Order: sequence, then C-alpha cells, then structure tokens
Amino acid sequence: MKDNLNFSFLPKHIGFIMDGNGRWAKQRGLERYEGHIEGAKTFRKIGEFAADIGIKCMTFYAFSTENWKRPQKEVDAIMQLFRDYLIEAEERKAENEEKGISLRFIGDRKGIPEDIIKLMEHIQSESSSKNNVIINIAINYGGRDEIVKAVKKIAADVKDGKVQINDIDEKMISDNLYTAGLPDPDLIIRPSGEYRTSNFLTYQSAYSELWFPDVLWPDFSEDDLIEALRAFEQRNRRFGGV
Ligand code: FPP
Repeated sequence: MKDNLNFSFLPKHIGFIMDGNGRWAKQRGLERYEGHIEGAKTFRKIGEFAADIGIKCMTFYAFSTENWKRPQKEVDAIMQLFRDYLIEAEERKAENEEKGISLRFIGDRKGIPEDIIKLMEHIQSESSSKNNVIINIAINYGGRDEIVKAVKKIAADVKDGKVQINDIDEKMISDNLYTAGLPDPDLIIRPSGEYRTSNFLTYQSAYSELWFPDVLWPDFSEDDLIEALRAFEQRNRRFGGV
C-alpha cells in the first residue's frame, strides 16, 4: 500500500541499478531476455511514479560497457527493448512535454546500432529544453570510462592552452562528465541483493546514500521506492562535517 506521499526532503537525483532481471526469469523457468522485458516495464512504472512524487532527476543503468560480453541473443534483446522504448517515447512526446520530462542518454555511443543512436539523438535534442524532470538512461555506460573521457578532454584543453593545470579542480572534472550540470546522485538504489555499485556514476557517487532492497528489479514496486525514500529521509547526511 502506498502510504502518504509527504516527504520532509527528497533526493535531488536517484540512480537505479536495474539488477536481477536474469534471476527473475530463471526463477520462473523463462529465458533471461524475458526478465529484461519485465525490467523495462518496471523502468517505465518507477520513472513515472518517481516523477509524479517530485523526483527531479533520475539515472537508470540499462547497459554497462561490460554487458557486451553477454550472449548475443541477450544483447540483441536488450537493444530491441531500447528501440521499442525510444519509438514509444517519440509517440508519447506530447505527454512527456506536458509533464516536463526530458529524456537524456549517457554513455559511449560506440557499438550501439545506428538506428538507436539516431532515435536517442532526436529525442534528446527535442526534449532538452523541457527539464522539469530529467530521466537519464545509461547505455554502454561505465563510470571509469566516463572519467577517462573527461581526463582526455581536459588534457586536450591543457595542450591547446585553454586550461592551466592549476585550474583543474573537482568541478572541472564534473563539468566534463556526461552528467555535467546535474546534481550528484544523493541516493543510489540497487535491488537484487548485490552490495556494490558496479562502475555506475563512479565519480558522482562519492557521497551517495546507498540502498540495497532485497527484491529483484522486475518486482521493484512503488512501495519499494517509498521505503527507500523513507530511509533516505532518516539518514543524517554530513558530507564529512560534524
Ligand atoms: C541487469 O540484470 C540488467 C541488465 C544488464 C539490463 C537492464 C535492462 C533493462 C531493464 C531494459 C532496459 C530498457 C529500457 C527501455 C531502459 P541481470 O541480467 O544482470 O540480472 P541477473 O543478475 O539476475 O542475471
């Protein structure tokens, strides 16, 4: 049951590691990709619910730089789910605009099918000014890879004389990440009983609260999100102070 939805404060940015789809499918004697189909439904449900209750920024980890190692059939199935979602997002553009939802895609475009890249770029360019709620989808994303790319950009600026070495600071690194301009995630949720963050928002998560509910992502519900938000409300975040 959804309890009352008043919160004393909400996270500014929630990261979701959508884990457990494979196990969910296995438990039911289904193929792994069928778990991803359910996971994609949960992604839609939780994204919409979080936006409705006032979460302004979320990032969903959909495909990591390491996930290419999975069987081709599974990779293809996940790519097909993105494609379906992107086509649907185009069709529902007006609805998203009304809600002020802006979709963004973070990660390395390399290796992603060309038609999917086109859809991502089109959707992102169309919705970039509507930023009441930002939903980032991390595809072919790796936190270390993101930091390497930021370092290369800054190094190139130093080489070109645009930046002095002494000007390099934490903010400059943040400003060169995919999430430039967004608040750092103050809450990261990873369902499925794994207690690690697996290369997700590696630089940005230095002070994130972590929440590891014992439920597989396809079963993650609105109530599970509320429980995470209630726990977040209780935590006293000091950022290294007293
Ligand atoms: C991790 O669970 C999940 C993934 C690698 C894929 C997540 C992708 C989706 C939920 C589809 C996303 C679709 C859209 C539209 C964003 P796992 O397969 O590692 O599960 P396991 O640990 O139980 O094997």
